[in-house]
Amino acid sequence: MSLATTMIAIFLQIITYFLFTTTASSPHGFTIDLIHRRSNASSSRVSNTQAGSPYADTVFDTYEYLMKLQIGTPPFEIEAILDTGSELIWTQCLPCLHCYDQKAPIFDPSKSSTFKEPRCKTPDQSCPYKIVYDDKSYTQGTLATETVTIHSTSGVPFVMPETIIGCSRNNSGSGFRPSSSGIVGLSRGSLSLISQMGGAYPGFISYCFAGKGTSTINFGANAIVAGDGVVSTTMFAKTAKRGHYYLNLDAVSVGDTRIETVGTPFHALNGNIVIDSGTPLTYFPVSYCNRVRKAVKRVVTANRVADPSRNDMLCYYSNTIEIFPVITMHFSGGADLVLDKYNMYMELNRGGVFCLAIICNNPTQVAIFGNRAQNNFLVGYDSSSLLVSFSPTDCSALWN
Ligand SMILES: *[C@@H]1O[C@H](CO)[C@@H](O)[C@H](O)[C@H]1NC(C)=O
Ligand SMILES: *[C@@H]1O[C@H](CO)[C@@H](O)[C@H](O)[C@H]1NC(C)=O
Repeated sequence: MSLATTMIAIFLQIITYFLFTTTASSPHGFTIDLIHRRSNASSSRVSNTQAGSPYADTVFDTYEYLMKLQIGTPPFEIEAILDTGSELIWTQCLPCLHCYDQKAPIFDPSKSSTFKEPRCKTPDQSCPYKIVYDDKSYTQGTLATETVTIHSTSGVPFVMPETIIGCSRNNSGSGFRPSSSGIVGLSRGSLSLISQMGGAYPGFISYCFAGKGTSTINFGANAIVAGDGVVSTTMFAKTAKRGHYYLNLDAVSVGDTRIETVGTPFHALNGNIVIDSGTPLTYFPVSYCNRVRKAVKRVVTANRVADPSRNDMLCYYSNTIEIFPVITMHFSGGADLVLDKYNMYMELNRGGVFCLAIICNNPTQVAIFGNRAQNNFLVGYDSSSLLVSFSPTDCSALWN
């Protein structure tokens, strides 16, 4: 795959927060209003449950998985980044003040009969939000309620009336690519798509990423991952990173060398790494990361080369990925994921260079288990049992 230089490192290591522009904007009153709407909306969705499991089509785009959904009345299709590492569902809206270049047509709220803007105590009564990502990319706009529609296994569309979305009109940052119309947040936060589905869908999500082509993200009963070969690990929540799915990584094996986190600052019992569908690569804190790199260096005899993508990855001249050792991630509870070489190593630009797809982070930044490392696992999130499950799967075969 090709690698645009800065794109990878920066993208969506998400620090999500809502910044209501003035203290007078009082998100509080707004929230109460929304809870009321949501309980009403979700009660109508419960009757849909018997009808089947909601799902959406997804498409791989270079580093990201885009999820197709329809917003508004009449329905308007958008493709937005499928992101378990953030909360809000947002799309660029007309008229734009400062939108990034978007290939598909931009959503025009004035053409939708179900678009509503709640009132907040701001001078213009809008409810502004702003999300800033780690790389200083930002998206800024106003919150609105709108009908969101995806598929259902019943064949009847799964309709979510009065879903809170962000209508985004001022976005900037190299992380936003023309192929996507925004982001679909799937975290445990209350504004995420999964949270707004209502009580009948208690946080079940599953996907199977193939690194190419099209696939499906499932919700509800169809998203339960169980059976032979499935391993599970506990998910944790942290107040500092609202809604993120934290897991406990006990150790990483590089070939036969097992590198424990215990005894290092990376070690934790209540979650030390975020599983994130919206971040392409994997991030470890620098000291632990260096120990993993050292173990790789001990095995690989090819010549080193500076990372051509300038993300400071560990890279070698090589025409083949076979020079590298197999990496196994040991999550707590015995969830050992033996990763394919593709998951952990990547060929850069025009070939001839392969790199370890793990980036060393500043220890104050969050460690991330990114989407490439999750390729060819059916991954299931179950927020009611607090488990994330993995089933080794040929995902391309599953979707064809
Ligand atoms: C939901 O809201 C609609 C429209 O405001 C209202 O007519 C209906 O009675 C509400 N349903 C419930 C169950 O509260
Ligand atoms: C867009 O947002 C940035 C950052 O908050 C701000 O500096 C800029 O003035 C905004 N631009 C417009 C056109 O509102």
